[in-house]
Amino acid sequence: MNYENILTSFQNGITTITINRPTKLNALNKVTIKELHEAFKSADDDKNTKAIIVTGSGEKAFVAGADISEFADYDSKKGKKLAKKGQELLFNFVENLSTPTIAAVNGFALGGGLELAMACHFRVASNNAKMGLPEVSLGVIPGYGGTQRLPQLIGKGRAMELIMTAGMIDANQAHHYGLVNHVTTPEELLPHCEKIASKIARNSSVAISAAIKAINANFEDGVDGFEVEVSEFGNCFDTEDFTEGTTAFLQKRKADFPGK
Ligand code: COA
Repeated sequence: MNYENILTSFQNGITTITINRPTKLNALNKVTIKELHEAFKSADDDKNTKAIIVTGSGEKAFVAGADISEFADYDSKKGKKLAKKGQELLFNFVENLSTPTIAAVNGFALGGGLELAMACHFRVASNNAKMGLPEVSLGVIPGYGGTQRLPQLIGKGRAMELIMTAGMIDANQAHHYGLVNHVTTPEELLPHCEKIASKIARNSSVAISAAIKAINANFEDGVDGFEVEVSEFGNCFDTEDFTEGTTAFLQKRKADFPGK
């Protein structure tokens, strides 16, 4: 499929989605959000895709935020709609994908950019990356899940400070905070993510998707994550992947999971 603002590629079971508006530092306008939704959906629906990597084009930015020019004249009604629609189409959608999704943070990840990275299942950053939620410097607050996911990932006090100061942290600080799992050179960023994705691809995709559901349940209001775990754990026993995984172990060979 051809997109205006994103590029997609597929290799060795990994779909890479690249946000491609480098002259606007890959800022998320409405078209890009819609295209990202479609690209993530089609990768998630594709049985051959075992992991998704999302990154930004150019050397400067992952995503420098939501496109400020699109909402500069909005009122409260339009603002609420913007946040709700964006959360549904992209941020909550990505968090709940059954395919593991890694953010390869290759430069500025600000506002909606950091919110997108935080919606991914985990993050790897290059050592030139800078991250922050600078919305209060514009007179708004993060609207794509940032006030919820940042404290989940780095703790309430750190999230309060980062949001209140509209500050930016570098990749090492983000690593220290647990916001990113690894820091690499810019050249090593994608190869490193691909290496992790290949490791993931060797395991049961059915079990991984059940694990994502159970882990996400921990953060859902009114949901007992332990119960979700019990249910997802039980369901695994009826899958072909479970039969293959346990049989392969007992036969002392590598499992070849059918993904069913
Ligand atoms: N929305 C719309 N356009 C954006 C953007 C955004 N969030 N971030 C950057 N751009 C555009 C700039 O307007 C500029 O476009 P132009 O060349 O047509 O004028 C282009 O991207 C390059 O950005 P520029 O500001 O010139 O680069 P810089 O290296 O001087 O600064 C940043 C980089 C990231 C510090 C700066 O662009 C910035 O502060 N961006 C906004 C970050 C933000 O507040 N995000 C949260 C939005 S809710």
